[in-house]
Amino acid sequence: MANRWKNNLLNSEITPEVIWLNRRQIISSALSLGFCGTIAGPVSAEVLTPNSWEDITSYNNYYEFGTGKGDPAANAHNLNTEGWSIVVDGMVDNPGRYSLVELLTGLTLEERVYRFRCVEAWSMVVPWNGYELKDILDIVGVKPGAKFVSFETALRPDEMPGVKYNVLDWPYREGLRLDEAMHPLTLMATEIYGKPIPNQNGAPIRLVVPWKYGFKSIKSIVRITLTDTEPQTSWNMSNSREYGFYSNVNPTVNHPRWSQASERRIGGGLFAKRKPTLMFNGYEDEVAHLYDGMDLAKFY
Ligand code: MTE
Repeated sequence: MANRWKNNLLNSEITPEVIWLNRRQIISSALSLGFCGTIAGPVSAEVLTPNSWEDITSYNNYYEFGTGKGDPAANAHNLNTEGWSIVVDGMVDNPGRYSLVELLTGLTLEERVYRFRCVEAWSMVVPWNGYELKDILDIVGVKPGAKFVSFETALRPDEMPGVKYNVLDWPYREGLRLDEAMHPLTLMATEIYGKPIPNQNGAPIRLVVPWKYGFKSIKSIVRITLTDTEPQTSWNMSNSREYGFYSNVNPTVNHPRWSQASERRIGGGLFAKRKPTLMFNGYEDEVAHLYDGMDLAKFY
Protein backbone atom coordinates (compact mmCIF):
# COMPACT_ATOMS: atom_id res chain seq x y z
CA MET A 1 0.00 0.00 0.00
CA ALA A 2 1.27 3.45 -0.81
CA ASN A 3 2.11 5.57 2.17
CA ARG A 4 -0.25 8.40 2.85
CA TRP A 5 1.33 11.80 2.85
CA LYS A 6 2.69 12.09 6.34
CA ASN A 7 3.23 14.73 8.91
CA ASN A 8 6.44 16.35 8.67
CA LEU A 9 7.97 19.49 7.98
CA LEU A 10 10.64 17.60 9.89
CA ASN A 11 12.70 19.99 11.94
CA SER A 12 15.75 17.82 11.55
CA GLU A 13 15.59 18.11 7.81
CA ILE A 14 15.42 21.86 7.43
CA THR A 15 16.64 24.65 9.70
CA PRO A 16 13.68 25.49 11.92
CA GLU A 17 14.05 29.25 11.44
CA VAL A 18 13.86 28.77 7.73
CA ILE A 19 10.68 26.80 8.02
CA TRP A 20 9.34 29.28 10.52
CA LEU A 21 9.93 32.21 8.27
CA ASN A 22 8.89 30.45 5.15
CA ARG A 23 6.15 28.22 6.39
CA ARG A 24 3.35 30.12 4.77
CA GLN A 25 5.27 30.20 1.57
CA ILE A 26 6.09 26.50 1.77
CA ILE A 27 2.52 25.68 2.58
CA SER A 28 0.97 27.95 0.04
CA SER A 29 3.26 26.81 -2.72
CA ALA A 30 2.40 23.21 -1.95
CA LEU A 31 -1.25 24.07 -1.82
CA SER A 32 -1.29 26.23 -4.87
CA LEU A 33 -0.30 23.10 -6.72
CA GLY A 34 -3.43 21.62 -5.21
CA PHE A 35 -1.59 18.71 -3.67
CA CYS A 36 -0.98 17.41 -0.24
CA GLY A 37 2.05 15.53 -1.39
CA THR A 38 5.48 15.53 0.15
CA ILE A 39 6.77 19.00 0.65
CA ALA A 40 9.68 18.37 2.93
CA GLY A 41 9.97 14.68 3.57
CA PRO A 42 11.58 11.79 1.83
CA VAL A 43 8.43 9.71 2.26
CA SER A 44 6.93 8.01 -0.71
CA ALA A 45 3.57 9.62 -0.82
CA GLU A 46 0.12 8.94 -2.02
CA VAL A 47 -0.88 12.36 -3.24
CA LEU A 48 -4.12 13.53 -1.72
CA THR A 49 -5.89 16.40 -3.38
CA PRO A 50 -7.42 18.58 -0.68
CA ASN A 51 -11.07 19.52 -0.80
CA SER A 52 -11.86 23.15 -1.51
CA TRP A 53 -12.21 25.73 1.26
CA GLU A 54 -15.86 25.91 0.24
CA ASP A 55 -16.45 22.16 0.74
CA ILE A 56 -14.50 22.07 3.99
CA THR A 57 -16.38 24.99 5.55
CA SER A 58 -19.91 24.41 4.30
CA TYR A 59 -20.52 20.71 5.02
CA ASN A 60 -19.93 20.13 8.71
CA ASN A 61 -20.91 18.24 11.80
CA TYR A 62 -21.05 20.50 14.84
CA TYR A 63 -24.26 19.64 16.67
CA GLU A 64 -23.99 22.60 19.05
CA PHE A 65 -25.07 24.63 16.01
CA GLY A 66 -27.67 22.19 14.69
CA THR A 67 -27.72 18.70 13.27
CA GLY A 68 -27.95 19.64 9.57
CA LYS A 69 -24.71 19.64 7.59
CA GLY A 70 -25.29 23.30 6.65
CA ASP A 71 -26.30 24.45 10.17
CA PRO A 72 -22.76 25.03 11.51
CA ALA A 73 -21.87 27.32 8.59
CA ALA A 74 -25.15 29.20 9.09
CA ASN A 75 -25.00 29.53 12.88
CA ALA A 76 -21.42 29.29 14.14
CA HIS A 77 -20.62 32.96 13.58
CA ASN A 78 -22.29 33.47 16.97
CA LEU A 79 -19.41 31.75 18.76
CA ASN A 80 -17.07 34.29 20.32
CA THR A 81 -13.55 32.89 20.16
CA GLU A 82 -11.76 35.95 21.48
CA GLY A 83 -9.68 35.53 24.62
CA TRP A 84 -10.05 31.76 24.43
CA SER A 85 -8.62 29.71 27.26
CA ILE A 86 -8.31 26.03 28.07
CA VAL A 87 -8.51 24.55 31.55
CA VAL A 88 -5.97 21.77 31.98
CA ASP A 89 -6.55 19.62 35.06
CA GLY A 90 -6.38 16.15 36.51
CA MET A 91 -3.08 14.29 36.63
CA VAL A 92 -0.77 17.09 35.47
CA ASP A 93 2.12 18.89 37.16
CA ASN A 94 0.88 22.36 36.28
CA PRO A 95 -2.92 22.46 36.30
CA GLY A 96 -4.64 25.73 35.53
CA ARG A 97 -6.38 27.90 33.01
CA TYR A 98 -4.15 28.67 30.06
CA SER A 99 -4.77 31.24 27.38
CA LEU A 100 -4.09 29.92 23.90
CA VAL A 101 -1.13 32.25 23.73
CA GLU A 102 0.31 30.78 26.93
CA LEU A 103 -0.20 27.24 25.75
CA LEU A 104 1.16 27.69 22.28
CA THR A 105 3.95 30.15 22.92
CA GLY A 106 5.11 27.95 25.78
CA LEU A 107 6.55 25.88 22.97
CA THR A 108 10.12 26.37 21.90
CA LEU A 109 10.75 27.78 18.48
CA GLU A 110 11.43 24.33 17.15
CA GLU A 111 8.22 22.93 18.56
CA ARG A 112 6.33 25.97 17.46
CA VAL A 113 6.99 25.17 13.84
CA TYR A 114 3.56 24.24 12.70
CA ARG A 115 2.93 20.72 11.70
CA PHE A 116 1.23 20.56 8.39
CA ARG A 117 -0.84 17.55 7.63
CA CYS A 118 -3.27 16.70 4.99
CA VAL A 119 -5.77 14.34 6.51
CA GLU A 120 -8.52 12.46 4.85
CA ALA A 121 -11.34 12.15 7.33
CA TRP A 122 -14.98 11.41 6.80
CA SER A 123 -14.24 11.55 3.11
CA MET A 124 -12.90 15.04 2.98
CA VAL A 125 -9.22 15.90 2.66
CA VAL A 126 -8.30 18.86 4.84
CA PRO A 127 -4.91 20.59 4.91
CA TRP A 128 -4.55 21.29 8.64
CA ASN A 129 -1.94 23.33 10.44
CA GLY A 130 -1.46 22.99 14.13
CA TYR A 131 0.63 21.62 16.98
CA GLU A 132 1.27 18.15 18.17
CA LEU A 133 -0.92 17.51 21.20
CA LYS A 134 2.18 15.99 22.75
CA ASP A 135 3.96 19.34 22.70
CA ILE A 136 1.11 20.90 24.66
CA LEU A 137 0.90 18.00 27.13
CA ASP A 138 4.64 18.27 27.71
CA ILE A 139 4.21 21.91 28.74
CA VAL A 140 1.65 21.05 31.43
CA GLY A 141 3.55 17.93 32.48
CA VAL A 142 1.73 14.59 32.51
CA LYS A 143 1.97 12.85 35.89
CA PRO A 144 3.08 9.23 36.03
CA GLY A 145 0.02 7.04 36.31
CA ALA A 146 -2.08 9.10 33.88
CA LYS A 147 -3.47 6.80 31.21
CA PHE A 148 -6.10 8.81 29.32
CA VAL A 149 -6.79 12.33 28.11
CA SER A 150 -10.31 13.71 27.98
CA PHE A 151 -11.51 16.81 26.17
CA GLU A 152 -14.55 19.06 26.40
CA THR A 153 -16.03 21.55 23.95
CA ALA A 154 -17.32 24.95 25.07
CA LEU A 155 -20.96 24.91 26.20
CA ARG A 156 -22.49 28.32 25.56
CA PRO A 157 -26.27 28.25 25.21
CA ASP A 158 -26.35 31.94 24.23
CA GLU A 159 -24.02 31.36 21.32
CA MET A 160 -24.86 27.77 20.42
CA PRO A 161 -28.49 27.38 19.33
CA GLY A 162 -28.21 23.58 19.03
CA VAL A 163 -27.55 22.90 22.71
CA LYS A 164 -31.17 23.53 23.66
CA TYR A 165 -31.90 20.18 22.04
CA ASN A 166 -30.91 17.03 23.90
CA VAL A 167 -29.48 15.31 20.85
CA LEU A 168 -26.30 14.74 22.90
CA ASP A 169 -25.50 15.09 26.58
CA TRP A 170 -23.63 18.42 26.53
CA PRO A 171 -20.87 19.44 26.66
CA TYR A 172 -19.46 17.44 23.77
CA ARG A 173 -16.80 15.11 25.21
CA GLU A 174 -14.07 13.01 23.71
CA GLY A 175 -11.12 11.01 24.92
CA LEU A 176 -7.94 9.26 23.89
CA ARG A 177 -5.62 6.78 25.51
CA LEU A 178 -2.43 8.58 26.53
CA ASP A 179 -0.28 6.78 23.94
CA GLU A 180 -2.75 7.80 21.21
CA ALA A 181 -2.66 11.38 22.49
CA MET A 182 1.15 11.39 22.46
CA HIS A 183 1.38 9.99 18.93
CA PRO A 184 3.00 12.43 16.51
CA LEU A 185 0.02 12.21 14.14
CA THR A 186 -2.36 13.59 16.78
CA LEU A 187 -2.75 17.27 16.13
CA MET A 188 -4.27 20.26 17.89
CA ALA A 189 -5.25 22.17 14.79
CA THR A 190 -5.54 25.94 14.62
CA GLU A 191 -5.58 26.59 10.88
CA ILE A 192 -6.85 25.21 7.58
CA TYR A 193 -5.09 26.18 4.36
CA GLY A 194 -2.87 28.39 6.57
CA LYS A 195 -5.87 30.48 7.68
CA PRO A 196 -7.50 30.44 11.14
CA ILE A 197 -10.00 27.61 11.47
CA PRO A 198 -13.49 28.95 10.85
CA ASN A 199 -15.96 28.56 13.70
CA GLN A 200 -17.92 25.80 11.97
CA ASN A 201 -14.76 23.68 11.81
CA GLY A 202 -13.99 24.10 15.51
CA ALA A 203 -12.29 27.47 16.09
CA PRO A 204 -10.02 28.37 17.64
CA ILE A 205 -8.51 24.96 18.40
CA ARG A 206 -9.69 21.41 17.76
CA LEU A 207 -8.35 17.92 17.75
CA VAL A 208 -7.45 15.98 14.59
CA VAL A 209 -6.87 12.24 14.98
CA PRO A 210 -6.18 11.00 11.45
CA TRP A 211 -6.72 7.27 12.00
CA LYS A 212 -10.07 7.55 13.80
CA TYR A 213 -13.62 8.28 12.70
CA GLY A 214 -14.45 11.97 12.44
CA PHE A 215 -16.40 12.31 15.68
CA LYS A 216 -13.25 11.76 17.76
CA SER A 217 -11.92 15.07 16.42
CA ILE A 218 -13.58 17.31 19.01
CA LYS A 219 -14.00 21.00 18.21
CA SER A 220 -13.54 24.27 20.12
CA ILE A 221 -11.80 22.68 23.11
CA VAL A 222 -12.04 24.39 26.52
CA ARG A 223 -10.89 21.61 28.83
CA ILE A 224 -8.23 18.90 28.77
CA THR A 225 -8.15 16.46 31.70
CA LEU A 226 -5.58 13.75 32.39
CA THR A 227 -7.01 10.70 34.15
CA ASP A 228 -6.23 7.12 34.99
CA THR A 229 -9.65 5.85 33.95
CA GLU A 230 -11.24 5.69 30.50
CA PRO A 231 -13.21 8.91 30.05
CA GLN A 232 -16.79 9.17 28.88
CA THR A 233 -17.28 10.22 25.29
CA SER A 234 -20.37 11.84 23.80
CA TRP A 235 -21.19 9.34 21.10
CA ASN A 236 -20.48 6.36 23.32
CA MET A 237 -22.77 7.85 26.00
CA SER A 238 -25.45 8.41 23.40
CA ASN A 239 -25.26 4.96 21.79
CA SER A 240 -22.63 2.61 23.14
CA ARG A 241 -23.60 -0.26 20.86
CA GLU A 242 -22.81 1.79 17.79
CA TYR A 243 -19.93 3.96 18.96
CA GLY A 244 -17.03 2.65 21.00
CA PHE A 245 -14.26 4.48 22.80
CA TYR A 246 -11.59 3.63 20.23
CA SER A 247 -13.43 4.30 16.96
CA ASN A 248 -10.44 3.46 14.82
CA VAL A 249 -11.21 3.49 11.11
CA ASN A 250 -11.58 -0.20 10.37
CA PRO A 251 -13.15 -1.53 7.16
CA THR A 252 -13.45 -5.01 8.68
CA VAL A 253 -15.68 -4.00 11.61
CA ASN A 254 -19.07 -2.75 10.49
CA HIS A 255 -21.24 -0.22 12.22
CA PRO A 256 -24.31 -2.20 13.37
CA ARG A 257 -26.42 -0.39 10.77
CA TRP A 258 -24.04 -0.03 7.85
CA SER A 259 -20.89 -1.39 6.26
CA GLN A 260 -17.74 0.61 6.82
CA ALA A 261 -15.80 -1.04 4.03
CA SER A 262 -15.96 1.80 1.53
CA GLU A 263 -16.34 5.55 1.36
CA ARG A 264 -17.16 8.35 -1.05
CA ARG A 265 -15.26 11.60 -1.24
CA ILE A 266 -17.36 14.70 -0.56
CA GLY A 267 -17.11 17.21 -3.38
CA GLY A 268 -16.61 14.56 -6.03
CA GLY A 269 -20.25 14.82 -7.06
CA LEU A 270 -23.13 12.53 -6.31
CA PHE A 271 -21.89 9.89 -8.72
CA ALA A 272 -18.30 9.85 -7.52
CA LYS A 273 -17.03 6.31 -7.20
CA ARG A 274 -16.83 4.75 -3.78
CA LYS A 275 -13.38 3.55 -2.83
CA PRO A 276 -12.32 0.94 -0.31
CA THR A 277 -11.66 2.33 3.17
CA LEU A 278 -8.15 1.65 4.40
CA MET A 279 -7.30 0.13 7.78
CA PHE A 280 -6.58 2.95 10.26
CA ASN A 281 -7.50 5.33 7.44
CA GLY A 282 -4.23 4.50 5.69
CA TYR A 283 -2.00 5.03 8.73
CA GLU A 284 -1.56 1.36 9.59
CA ASP A 285 2.24 1.49 9.49
CA GLU A 286 2.26 4.35 11.98
CA VAL A 287 -0.40 3.30 14.48
CA ALA A 288 -1.17 -0.43 14.27
CA HIS A 289 1.40 -1.16 16.99
CA LEU A 290 -0.69 0.83 19.48
CA TYR A 291 -3.29 -1.93 19.33
CA ASP A 292 -1.08 -5.04 19.27
CA GLY A 293 -2.91 -7.93 20.84
CA MET A 294 -6.24 -6.11 21.11
CA ASP A 295 -9.41 -7.55 19.62
CA LEU A 296 -10.54 -4.62 17.48
CA ALA A 297 -14.02 -6.06 17.05
CA LYS A 298 -14.41 -5.92 20.84
CA PHE A 299 -12.60 -2.59 21.32
CA TYR A 300 -14.36 -0.80 18.44
N1 MTE B 1 -17.15 18.48 18.02
C1 MTE B 1 -18.18 19.06 18.64
N2 MTE B 1 -17.96 19.84 19.70
N3 MTE B 1 -19.47 18.86 18.25
C2 MTE B 1 -19.78 18.04 17.19
O1 MTE B 1 -20.97 17.86 16.86
N4 MTE B 1 -18.90 16.56 15.44
C3 MTE B 1 -17.85 15.57 15.17
C4 MTE B 1 -16.46 16.20 15.17
N5 MTE B 1 -16.30 17.10 16.29
C5 MTE B 1 -18.68 17.41 16.49
C6 MTE B 1 -17.37 17.67 16.94
C7 MTE B 1 -18.08 14.87 13.92
S1 MTE B 1 -19.37 13.75 13.92
C8 MTE B 1 -17.28 15.06 12.82
S2 MTE B 1 -17.50 14.07 11.43
C9 MTE B 1 -16.26 16.11 12.77
O2 MTE B 1 -16.26 16.92 13.94
C10 MTE B 1 -16.50 16.99 11.57
O3 MTE B 1 -15.49 17.96 11.45
P1 MTE B 1 -15.57 19.03 10.24
O4 MTE B 1 -16.93 19.65 10.30
O5 MTE B 1 -14.47 20.02 10.47
O6 MTE B 1 -15.37 18.28 8.96
